[in-house]
Amino acid sequence: MNSKGSLEIKRVRKQYKVSGAALQVLDDINLDVKPGEFISIVGLSGCGKTTLLRLIVGLESDYEGEILLDGRRLNGPSLDRGIVFQDHRLFPWLTVEKNIALGIVGKSEKEKKNIIASHIELVGLKGFEKSYPHQLSGGMSQRAAIARALVNQPEILLLDEPLGALDALTRMYMHKELERIWNKEKITMIMVTHDVEEAVYLSDKIVIMSAKPGRLQKIINVPLARPRDRASLDFAEMKEQVLEAFLLHTEHPFSYTI
Ligand SMILES: Nc1ncnc2c1ncn2[C@@H]1O[C@H](COP(=O)(O)OP(=O)(O)O)[C@@H](O)[C@H]1O
Ligand SMILES: [Mg+2]
Repeated sequence: MNSKGSLEIKRVRKQYKVSGAALQVLDDINLDVKPGEFISIVGLSGCGKTTLLRLIVGLESDYEGEILLDGRRLNGPSLDRGIVFQDHRLFPWLTVEKNIALGIVGKSEKEKKNIIASHIELVGLKGFEKSYPHQLSGGMSQRAAIARALVNQPEILLLDEPLGALDALTRMYMHKELERIWNKEKITMIMVTHDVEEAVYLSDKIVIMSAKPGRLQKIINVPLARPRDRASLDFAEMKEQVLEAFLLHTEHPFSYTI
């Protein structure tokens, strides 16, 4: 197991100013992530999941508390953290290989070529090097975005609802692919998702967040052996446990009683 990629989030609070008023988005967030763990964060829209990932990746520095990567306090964005968003954010005028090449920092042309080839292979896009984003399916575009996020060998890969726009069958296939990539790269992954089944399939731990302000309500360990069998009783029971915790700790804005 990789010894790098541990993350400590300590007493983190984050406010935004909206029309002059303070909006408390994150409150007293505490989380320890071990090297190589797969963590999912589940919570309703607006509870601060993306904000938390933006803090971890270093895009926001104005917050209280501290975030340590391998014991060192974060100081802005750095190559040790990669991120994948829900929309692939590939440049439409560049081919897959050129999009991936853009992410590579500080390598010779020869090294770049090898890195591109090995990452295209890693995400299963061999044969599509010269394709443009509009020629790819949603799943393939996300594979390219994952490759681009991994080219600098980050210690942590952050995934913000990376499969949210895909159809159900492609998602299931991508779960296997993400697990394969995680196994191969042996890096820490932190994924935001709305999908409890996805979280149970992939995660070592599932973090349940509540909204207004965003708080971590519960951390659930997923001790199931891998690869996981969605049809098994254990899997169904785990899913039930996570759903129950989710419903207990989140108040849906549209909930009502008949
Ligand atoms: N740059 C910003 N300025 C002001 N408010 C913001 C900003 N970014 C997010 N917010 C607010 O913070 C809250 C959490 O947003 P976000 O982290 O995107 O939630 P989630 O990803 O869980 O849907 C929302 O109420 C959102 O409107
Ligand atoms: Mg979000």
